[in-house]
Amino acid sequence: MLFVTFIVPFFVNHVLALEAPIPGYKVQEMTWKVDPFNNGTIVEITGTVQDVIAELYKINPQYLEHHFMVDDDSDKLTITHKQDNHVICNPRPGHWVHARYYPIQDGISYLRQIGGRPELSAGPGTCSRVSCSWKSAIWWCNDDDKPMSLDSFGDIADCAQEIVDICHKRDQWEFYVVGQNFNDGNWNCIVRGANC
Ligand SMILES: *[C@@H]1O[C@H](CO)[C@@H](O)[C@H](O)[C@H]1NC(C)=O
Repeated sequence: MLFVTFIVPFFVNHVLALEAPIPGYKVQEMTWKVDPFNNGTIVEITGTVQDVIAELYKINPQYLEHHFMVDDDSDKLTITHKQDNHVICNPRPGHWVHARYYPIQDGISYLRQIGGRPELSAGPGTCSRVSCSWKSAIWWCNDDDKPMSLDSFGDIADCAQEIVDICHKRDQWEFYVVGQNFNDGNWNCIVRGANC
């Protein structure tokens, strides 16, 4: 009897470079510095906040129980209608697909809870995908020609939340959102559909 083994190229996804959110922009993977045992031993993890949480779970499951909870309020929509003309809803029609509301809201919640400071190398147009789940991504982009760091990932969460508050739309039973928010500090964030 002859057995044929097919080698499944499951690694292909990892070989393909992550596509920039806007053509011509550079992609830089985020490196997160976390302290899984709260004892000063810092571990560096590269990827999205969801990758960090998965890795933290492997290192110390108790850490997650104490530090991460998905915000239970996320199913009540808080429509604040801030008059913020930095937010552009659906800035690239036909190019960006909508993200789903709830995964974005979860990503925002995670970004608020994770410690450390976001850092990006010099731009303009250097972007990092900080959250991605259920085909819904949050990007942070440096528009400055110098490296950039923010006080916390909560700053990116605030930026994404403004997009959600201003741009979300209902389609049948689900809420969707796509948009970009330009911060005075020469950076922007993007909420859009993605492959992840
Ligand atoms: C922190 O805890 C981990 C796991 O118990 C241990 O491997 C590490 O050496 C500790 N670090 C310090 C600075 O005590």
